[in-house]
Amino acid sequence: MIAPFNNADSVGNSATAIADREIAIACRGIVKDFGDGNTKVRALHGINVDVFSSELTLLVGPSGCGKTTLISIIAGLLNPTAGDLDLFGMKQSQLRGSKLVEFRAQSVGFVFQQYNLLPALNATENVAIPLLIQGWKRPAALKAALSALEAVDLGSRAEQRPNQLSGGQQQRVAIARALVHQPRLLVCDEPTAALDAVSGQRVMELLKKVAVQPGRAVIVVTHDDRVFGYGDRIISMADGRIESVENRENELNSTGKREES
Ligand SMILES: Nc1ncnc2c1ncn2[C@@H]1O[C@H](COP(=O)(O)OP(=O)(O)O)[C@@H](O)[C@H]1O
Ligand SMILES: [Mg+2]
Repeated sequence: MIAPFNNADSVGNSATAIADREIAIACRGIVKDFGDGNTKVRALHGINVDVFSSELTLLVGPSGCGKTTLISIIAGLLNPTAGDLDLFGMKQSQLRGSKLVEFRAQSVGFVFQQYNLLPALNATENVAIPLLIQGWKRPAALKAALSALEAVDLGSRAEQRPNQLSGGQQQRVAIARALVHQPRLLVCDEPTAALDAVSGQRVMELLKKVAVQPGRAVIVVTHDDRVFGYGDRIISMADGRIESVENRENELNSTGKREES
């Protein structure tokens, strides 16, 4: 088992707080450069950080600090220039080529700021896409998609197309689509940025309720401080580096489990 990384400037990151928790993703020395020669930009300067299962991890920091680059590397969309990641006990460096594509298809769900729904398809059909890509038969895929829509309280909108839905509803369809294949990792890049405050809160509540499950890691990138309260853990970045990691232990009981409310 990989040893947890104790970010030196962490807040509330005591060994006991970490002991009961399962590391889902361990980033070790992640460097990312874009371009080369005179145009080279170092977007990440050796990132060491852990993401735990069964938690909502917020990745926060100003625009351009490297949040999207880091989650793209974690999700296997970009290769790091240096460093390695441990994803659910597997080294990403050993998951190249078709294995990485397979890992991504089966194990990762994405939610973006712009929902990226296909306008010609209704909500159920949009949600079914990841299953159809995996080769599911259409009736089974649509049935699973409808269940996923019901989980985000949109069962009654199943037949509607994206342009018949509000922004918040479209984002909830995108969440259902990201979760329909039950990925172990859900990555959301600024999911509330295009939403008003109430819709944004609804989306965060749904992520908390539907996405945060035993064995699944959820990372939400945001610079929307209205949603910081939803995080179990807040990783702050600045200029391509981890600035601080805050464990919100105050909301956890002595066993490290969230209290029922
Ligand atoms: N494809 C790219 N080519 C060149 N530079 C990039 C590319 N993607 C990101 N960058 C640069 O890397 C840095 C981090 O970007 P990004 O990860 O998108 O930040 P954030 O998501 O925190 O706003 C920025 O300086 C950005 O300009
Ligand atoms: Mg970004």
